[in-house]
Amino acid sequence: MAAAVTAPKKAVTTARRRVQIPDTMIAEAIDRFGPPEVLTAHRRPVPSVSPNEVLISLRSAGVGNWDARIRDGSWALDKVRFPYVLGVDGAGIVAAKGSRVRRFDVGDRVWSYSYRPAKGGFYAEFVVVPSHDVGHLPDGVDLTHAGMVVATALTAQQGIDDHLRVRGGERVLIFGASGAVGTYAVQIAKLRGAHVIGTATGRDAQELVQRLGADAVVDARDLRDLGRLKQIALDAILATAGGDGLEHCIDLVRKRGRVAYPDGVEPPPKPRTEVSVGSFDAVPGAHELDRLAKLFLGAHLRIPIAAEYSLTHAADAHRRLERGRVLGRIGLRIRH
Ligand SMILES: NC(=O)c1ccc[n+]([C@@H]2O[C@H](COP(=O)([O-])OP(=O)(O)OC[C@H]3O[C@@H](n4cnc5c(N)ncnc54)[C@H](OP(=O)(O)O)[C@@H]3O)[C@@H](O)[C@H]2O)c1
Repeated sequence: MAAAVTAPKKAVTTARRRVQIPDTMIAEAIDRFGPPEVLTAHRRPVPSVSPNEVLISLRSAGVGNWDARIRDGSWALDKVRFPYVLGVDGAGIVAAKGSRVRRFDVGDRVWSYSYRPAKGGFYAEFVVVPSHDVGHLPDGVDLTHAGMVVATALTAQQGIDDHLRVRGGERVLIFGASGAVGTYAVQIAKLRGAHVIGTATGRDAQELVQRLGADAVVDARDLRDLGRLKQIALDAILATAGGDGLEHCIDLVRKRGRVAYPDGVEPPPKPRTEVSVGSFDAVPGAHELDRLAKLFLGAHLRIPIAAEYSLTHAADAHRRLERGRVLGRIGLRIRH
């Protein structure tokens, strides 16, 4: 399946809107760990805000492979209280704010990445998050897709800019370039002036990675195809998947080269003596979201969406995720 690639419009300004806040909302939650079927619609009270929190009326949310692991119980979370509302990122309109919140007004267009928000996740019509996990949405990024960007684009930006510190002219491999993090990593590494090689399996995935700007694409599941990299001394790798193909690519990194991967990549790459190999977690926060907004404003990054589902079809989104070969990110459209 070809991924839809949304190109942000140049300058879109939206009239500030007041939002009706009902007493209850629909949220997709689990009452126990299990297969996608355990994810069902619940009617829940709309959470109220404390002084440093923001209530967001959500338009879209991201679906990540970590959500599936939380759902099936394989992600080690402490103190899970059921029903548990999934989702760590999304976008919408500020519906209410706490008494100490100065950076936002009701009606502002915002996006947020918040790991385990205490009052429930983003698979819901409303979410309450600490205001420092919220950022203003840049003009030109539409609300129906912005929520499907946040966690994975932040991960890519921090991987390329903060952990690998990619510089112009470097030869950078994005391992798993057609996935949710990889599709942004390709674009950001190109923006930094790198020579970018992406790995992707299948024609659709390879074409997508090329459209996003990669200079070359190889199939990491095909050792013969990987042989094409032998002539290139790689400076750096951002890895979004692990395994034999990745180990083979790390063998091609020059002395004192760098490899970075987000925690969660399995199996994690083996440590090396002459190449630095390190993991990282995407950092949320107002500063990070402002950096991401600047990136989107300046570069008009493309937003590759593999599939969109309505909120009450979140279980179908998880089934799609589990079938694999997802080009870009899967998302939930929450309101139109
Ligand atoms: N710690 C953090 O803060 C953080 C944040 C974001 C993501 N993560 C982690 O980062 C990883 C990537 O996330 P994502 O959302 O980008 O996942 P994703 O969308 O599934 O992307 C992974 C990519 O790797 C490819 N791939 C998988 N197995 C492969 C193999 N054996 N050989 C070659 N390529 C392979 C996939 O291609 P196919 O589709 O062809 O299999 C896909 O393009 C996940 O483990 C996630 O949990 C961590």
